[in-house]
Amino acid sequence: MNGDAGSGDQELLAEQIDYYRAVADEYLDGQLDEPGGDELVAAIEEFAPAGDVLELACGPGTWTPRLLRHADTVTAVDASPEMQALAAQRVAADLERVRFVLADLFTWRPDRRYDGVFMGFWISHVPWNRFADFWDRVDHALRPGGRVLFVDDAYRTEEELIEGQASTTIQRRLRDGTPHRAVKVPHTAEGLERELSVLGWNIRVHPTSGPFYWGTGGRSSD
Ligand SMILES: C[S@@+](CC[C@H](N)C(=O)[O-])C[C@H]1O[C@@H](n2cnc3c(N)ncnc32)[C@H](O)[C@@H]1O
Repeated sequence: MNGDAGSGDQELLAEQIDYYRAVADEYLDGQLDEPGGDELVAAIEEFAPAGDVLELACGPGTWTPRLLRHADTVTAVDASPEMQALAAQRVAADLERVRFVLADLFTWRPDRRYDGVFMGFWISHVPWNRFADFWDRVDHALRPGGRVLFVDDAYRTEEELIEGQASTTIQRRLRDGTPHRAVKVPHTAEGLERELSVLGWNIRVHPTSGPFYWGTGGRSSD
């Protein structure tokens, strides 16, 4: 495990939320059009999350409608009301099956357990020093035998790497040029699988033909 987001990362994490709040309207234009995206869709279809599903960092509802094809209900958590407003529009026809929770995932405690937990492009935004605590929260959210699926990427541009390759802090700019720092951990499939197994998870992480990866599994003890 490496990276450098130290214990004084509150400001950085607040800036990360500010970035996503500000970028919400531009977000869908900036999505990565790289090989492997269709493999993520296939992974979700295979996962076919049934029952009550928790979606962490739902954003503008990129994946929420697809989850609703399989799930009875989706609880969609995000810290950005702007993102959640966009997500609500995308699931307008199924709103009675979606509960939106506006919360910071580094402090939020789930009030119930779920059959499945899904995370789209979120794991890479969790700094290493919060990684174990975050997965403890996932543990508390999952019923015994419940399953997890995440999809993500390790894509960072040269321009974003304001502190160099070794740092997990990057800088992104809004269309108008306003800079915001964020966390982007460039996980490898093997490295992530290993770290999760240390924490008691049995999750297989699969690279794709592009910069994306996806992981699925559950607790080692289940
Ligand atoms: C890369 S986007 C992913 C959105 C969506 N899941 C997708 O795949 O397109 C990351 C999301 O995390 C949310 N986020 C950032 N920091 C957060 C935090 N501390 N707690 C909850 N959500 C947060 C942002 O508002 C944003 O919607």
